[in-house]
Amino acid sequence: MNAVRLKFIELFQSEPLLVHAPGRINLIGEHTDYNEGFVMPAAIHMGVQFAFAVSQNNVSQIYSLKYNQLFNLELTNPAKVESPAWANYFLGIVNRLNAIGAPLQNFTCVFDGDLPTGAGLSSSAAMECGFVVGLNELLHLGLSRLEMVHMAQWAEHQYAGVKCGIMDQFSSMMGKKDHAFLLDCRTLAYEYLPLHLGDYELLLCDTNVKHSLATSAYNTRRSECQHGVEVLQKSFPEVTALRDATVLMLQTCQQQVPATVFNRCLFVVEENARVTEAALDLKKGDLHAFGKKMFTAHEGLSKQYEVSCPELDYLVELAIHAPGILGARMIGGGFGGCTLNMIHRNAVETFITTTATAYHARFGKTMNHYRVKPGAGATVVMNG
Ligand code: GLA
Repeated sequence: MNAVRLKFIELFQSEPLLVHAPGRINLIGEHTDYNEGFVMPAAIHMGVQFAFAVSQNNVSQIYSLKYNQLFNLELTNPAKVESPAWANYFLGIVNRLNAIGAPLQNFTCVFDGDLPTGAGLSSSAAMECGFVVGLNELLHLGLSRLEMVHMAQWAEHQYAGVKCGIMDQFSSMMGKKDHAFLLDCRTLAYEYLPLHLGDYELLLCDTNVKHSLATSAYNTRRSECQHGVEVLQKSFPEVTALRDATVLMLQTCQQQVPATVFNRCLFVVEENARVTEAALDLKKGDLHAFGKKMFTAHEGLSKQYEVSCPELDYLVELAIHAPGILGARMIGGGFGGCTLNMIHRNAVETFITTTATAYHARFGKTMNHYRVKPGAGATVVMNG
């Protein structure tokens, strides 16, 4: 946070308002959010930091410390830009703020983050959420957290082109220290779940694979699920999203859809059930049962939903055979990014060393790792 503050003072000669917005992990419930199902994410301690102040200039200025780039943003014309790509998250938010007639004033902003981009940890949601929380505070806009979640999701849809669900933005906004939460993506009702992991901790292994087709493949998965719903509805009109479907309903309609669509829908229905059961495991303190569901979820993501990649599969395979690991799976949209491991603290060091070595030998790539802690949602750190 200090680097952002110091850069801000250097560039704009005033004491800024500081905001931290976190990335997220997801313990279980992948690709269920846009099917109106359940997810169990947690915000993490890593995120994006912002410094803001009101400006008397006739343009707003945003400086990316990471890319060493300054972007001039016109509040009255927040059209999408070719470059820098990062500006689009902010332009999307300004578009929404204009749409509701928010009383905007020009501002200056510096941001930076310790979240790797493209690693499945929702750095984009952290950018959107931190930015809107900052402007809300700075300009006294009086927006609710939920309004800001929806604006952030809209920016992702319309300015980044990813038809994402609500999980990432909700997590970055609503996270709670040392807790995960069970979120119903239909009603947005949620329940914080304390993460009593005892001797276990959460370890991310980053494949460093950033799949260029991730956006289009993600949007294709969404339409495959929609296709499934349309077919199911003919026999079961009460099904308005895969959240409402059962395995039996799917089997009844199996012949009416391509095998791919059937597999996608089956995964979602099973994954959704896993989340509810996993929440009970967590409440009972049965981490072994929880971990098994993580492995099963990965299998489904890889074979049925086909959003994994050889690198992710390999890291999970190593985790299955490693001592001290209760569960592991890919997290986020897929096609690269990280695996999440629930691992005994005494096993962490050895696992990191042996896995990174094996991974490099197999793929010639570096495996990064992050020992993550569940953290708070987007927060105003200091009002300068
Ligand atoms: C991405 C999306 C989320 C969610 C996950 C998969 O992170 O942004 O909305 O769909 O993929 O669970």
